Amino acid sequence: TSPAGPARIAHGVGSPGRAAISAPHLRTDRWWLPPLVSALGLAAFIGYSTWRAFANTHYYAAPYVSPFYSPCLASNCTDMNGGADWHLFGNWWGLSPALLVLIFPLGFRLTCYYYRKTYYRAFWLSPPACAVAEPHASYTGETRLPLILQNIHRYFFYLAVVVAGILSYDTVLAFRDPHGNWGHAGLGTLVLLVNIILIWAYTLSCHSCRHIIGGKLRHFSAHPVRYRMWGWVGVLNGRHMLLAWSSLISVGVADLYVYLVSSGAFDDPRFF
Ligand code: FES
Repeated sequence: TSPAGPARIAHGVGSPGRAAISAPHLRTDRWWLPPLVSALGLAAFIGYSTWRAFANTHYYAAPYVSPFYSPCLASNCTDMNGGADWHLFGNWWGLSPALLVLIFPLGFRLTCYYYRKTYYRAFWLSPPACAVAEPHASYTGETRLPLILQNIHRYFFYLAVVVAGILSYDTVLAFRDPHGNWGHAGLGTLVLLVNIILIWAYTLSCHSCRHIIGGKLRHFSAHPVRYRMWGWVGVLNGRHMLLAWSSLISVGVADLYVYLVSSGAFDDPRFF
């Protein structure tokens, strides 16, 4: 047996030259709780969004459109009365139109620095928590395929800005009544409004956004506008985890709301 005891592994933290500590780790707190909650939360969202993305039904309840289906790019889209149903894909596209657009927010979140940390911990245990050794024999980080592709996050950021712009347009249209007259506000309007605020806050809190706005400057004093914007984005960036989860929940709630109204589960309460 080694000085560390029979359970000691010969790689990672058990490699020769590392401190010989027989315990798997020295943490005494409930370090497993955050990765467990993350795994359950992400699994729930993945399950729900997969079902809705393939459902291809009940994604429009005038004047509200589900954020999962906007912009609607296929000819088989429901007519959205002036909304973002642009029919760029012809009749040959027979699957759910959501599959054409979800790749953008999905790619944005999948490559997000925060979500990377979360799912590496929750699903891959790499590592499961700070100061808790991972079970894998080797570690190559994000230096080779496929994880090196995480570097395209900044491009997904640009696409996410476009998608957020389109969802903003949808939210403006939610101030019309089902017949297209302006001056309406219902519970659905409020749901979409809260969602788009959280989507923008999450998008602008992105680490890539922060770098695009304030990075590569030698002197902030020579760029006062960018410096000020960098400060604002920095405030949001400090809450990136909170915004990642709250916007994930809000986008699911917005879709669920449209689904329930569209399927006739209840009528949209109208404020004015
Ligand atoms: Fe999370 Fe860019 S780092 S969205």
